[in-house]
Amino acid sequence: MTVLVTGGAGYIGGHMVLELLDAGESVVVLDNLSTGFRWAVAPAATLIEGDFGDAELVADLLARFKVDAIIHFAAKIVVPESVADPLGYYENNTAKARSLLEQAVKAGVPHVIFSSTAAVYGEPEASPVVEDAPTAPINPYGRSKLMVEWMLADVAAAHKLTYTALRYFNVAGADPKGRSGQSTPNATHLIKVAVQAALGKRQGMEVFGTDYPTPDGSCLRDYIQVTDLVRAHMDALRRLRAGGGSITCNVGYGRGYSVLEVIDMVKRVSGADFDVRLSGRRAGDPASIVASNARIRRELGWRPRHDDLEQIVRQALDWERGLEKRLAG
Ligand code: UFG
Repeated sequence: MTVLVTGGAGYIGGHMVLELLDAGESVVVLDNLSTGFRWAVAPAATLIEGDFGDAELVADLLARFKVDAIIHFAAKIVVPESVADPLGYYENNTAKARSLLEQAVKAGVPHVIFSSTAAVYGEPEASPVVEDAPTAPINPYGRSKLMVEWMLADVAAAHKLTYTALRYFNVAGADPKGRSGQSTPNATHLIKVAVQAALGKRQGMEVFGTDYPTPDGSCLRDYIQVTDLVRAHMDALRRLRAGGGSITCNVGYGRGYSVLEVIDMVKRVSGADFDVRLSGRRAGDPASIVASNARIRRELGWRPRHDDLEQIVRQALDWERGLEKRLAG
């Protein structure tokens, strides 16, 4: 039995591969290396360079490696980019996912784990948000992912396939053993940007919006450490293989930090001061989004181990410090 990890050369996928290998699984990675790196794939995994929308290639891999589960990470993930390029997001995140699911059904792959997102909720009315809350995404990114959740539900009803959709909140931090971290060039995510500013890799940073209806006016997010996140997939895989039915779960800690609090933490942990400019709102940003994790605890038995913003920031800083050497090969 082999697990196919799409996007396994990327930030979260790379951590997933480590976790799977640590658990003794056989792993095939399918990645087009558009944002991922060959070196980010642990050597014990088989890396196939290609696109998950390539039906012929996927059909061949599923049969050749006797894949029993697909963990699908490969996606475009930048909210403002999705506002500027909606068709690119619907093509990559939605249309190609349809193709992947078609191949999964044809090959009789029994299980799929899908990287969904808190962005499917849009601007939730209640906080923390539960999975049964209305889905009302406010940007193309969220809609491109929500459509895949819908496809999965329909496919699971029609075919012999069970799935877990995991709605990630804001993923951050790095492997506590220092083997992997966020390496994407031109990354736009808050902790990555703040850490780069702290290390002098960029000239300060901006806070996008200080007039939100939140305690300090900046947006609130639930930052989930990447190893805790990938462990949720291990819990999901175990449950699906044991016969558990299809399910959708939030993955977050249930606590929000504001953009200004995160920046303060990065300054404190790094000991570096940097220029922070207060700017206008960024397109597509909800004011506040915090997870209820009651369902994933109850149904998957998931337990956070790294719920500590200071530790998350420290890991991100450590990884960023060593990154140039890795990128240079
Ligand atoms: N932010 C800044 N300055 C920056 C970068 C970000 O102020 O330089 C702010 C954003 O405006 C936002 C917050 O920091 O308020 C977090 O922004 P990120 O870009 O780090 O993350 P997003 O919340 O936009 O999106 C992330 C993931 C999505 C996921 C979503 C769930 O990219 O996949 O969290 O909330 F769906």
